[in-house]
Amino acid sequence: MNTVPFYDPARSYEDNLSHGPFGLFADGTVYRTEGAPKESFLGIPVHVPFGIPAGPLVNGAYVRAALDYAYDLVIYKTVRTAARSSHAWPNIVPVDVSGDLTPERGANGVRAIDAFSHRPAITNSFGVPSAHPESWQRDLEETVKAARLGQVVIGSFQGTTGGDADDYVRDFALAARLTAETGVPVLEANLSCPNEGTASLLCYDIDRVKRVVTAIREVTTTPLVLKMAYFDNQEMLERFVTEIGSLADGLAMINTISAKVIDDAGNPRLPGEGRQYSGICGGPIRWAGLDMVRRVRELRERYGMTFGIIGVGGCMDHHDYRMYREAGADAVMSATGAMWNPLLAVEIKRAEGLSVERSL
Ligand SMILES: Cc1cc2nc3c(=O)[nH]c(=O)nc-3n(C[C@H](O)[C@H](O)[C@H](O)COP(=O)(O)O)c2cc1C
Repeated sequence: MNTVPFYDPARSYEDNLSHGPFGLFADGTVYRTEGAPKESFLGIPVHVPFGIPAGPLVNGAYVRAALDYAYDLVIYKTVRTAARSSHAWPNIVPVDVSGDLTPERGANGVRAIDAFSHRPAITNSFGVPSAHPESWQRDLEETVKAARLGQVVIGSFQGTTGGDADDYVRDFALAARLTAETGVPVLEANLSCPNEGTASLLCYDIDRVKRVVTAIREVTTTPLVLKMAYFDNQEMLERFVTEIGSLADGLAMINTISAKVIDDAGNPRLPGEGRQYSGICGGPIRWAGLDMVRRVRELRERYGMTFGIIGVGGCMDHHDYRMYREAGADAVMSATGAMWNPLLAVEIKRAEGLSVERSL
């Protein structure tokens, strides 16, 4: 089997953008799901509510390949309102983590290793690069049209810090408007990104999230998903759900868990400033995604709310997909698992009893 991930960590970000996708995603195969879609995602019919979250599908060519490989929920990587380059290579490095990675273990340090296994735990560090809006808008607008019946292309965006709080909120709303203009049927705001306010990540600064989401709602009526990080603090999570939950159509959880990634000598593995900590993805964070889904579902029920729940983190196979659904996720997404096993959607659909036919 071809095991080159569709985003190739051995190449630079620019190389991946210009020449990818790689591995199976480059072979031109189309997998067609037979029959009418029987499930739904935020009211939109899908065959199976499973897909690839924001990040590894770095442009329209990647998104179209994911649609051809039968992923029904496909997110175009997070974009910004201005062009920004990627952190230097390497951007994806395998790490040695056995068992569950807690935030405490991450802070103590995680060792980078040399070789990727076939189901790796990885760290990713890109700095959320973006093309200029004119370029990504054109690409995304074209790509949205590639979705077949039962598939949804989602546009992820975030604001950029640098000015004051008002500028940040305005930039988030501008990013939302520009993304909505492409015709995507669903938007996702990445709230698990840096913040200059009272908390390191925007999603932990609930007052500011409220301002951001209210500003987004003023510029677009497109259904809106909010991407969250892992919340240790139950009181804060309850505040988030009760104060923000009614403003969103869906909550997606989780992004990565932050860790200090070190080499054998204990030095930072990734070169350059501000990269001492980076996000861990894959199997070691599954516990955290499942935990968040369970807690958010319980809060949704308790407060009689209606937003959809999207489970992300360490979904590597059909068993993990089922665990997420049973925990209360209305939809599930996999970044690391799908990168190393592009056939994951086909496998999950078949295990769910659907017929998926391969054509060249
Ligand atoms: C290569 C890569 C790039 C990512 N970039 C983004 C991003 O731009 N925006 C975002 O919201 N999440 C990003 N993520 C996080 C994923 O969407 C996801 O939340 C995380 O990887 C956990 O899922 P996993 O364990 O299935 O990988 C990225 C992940 C990977 C692997």
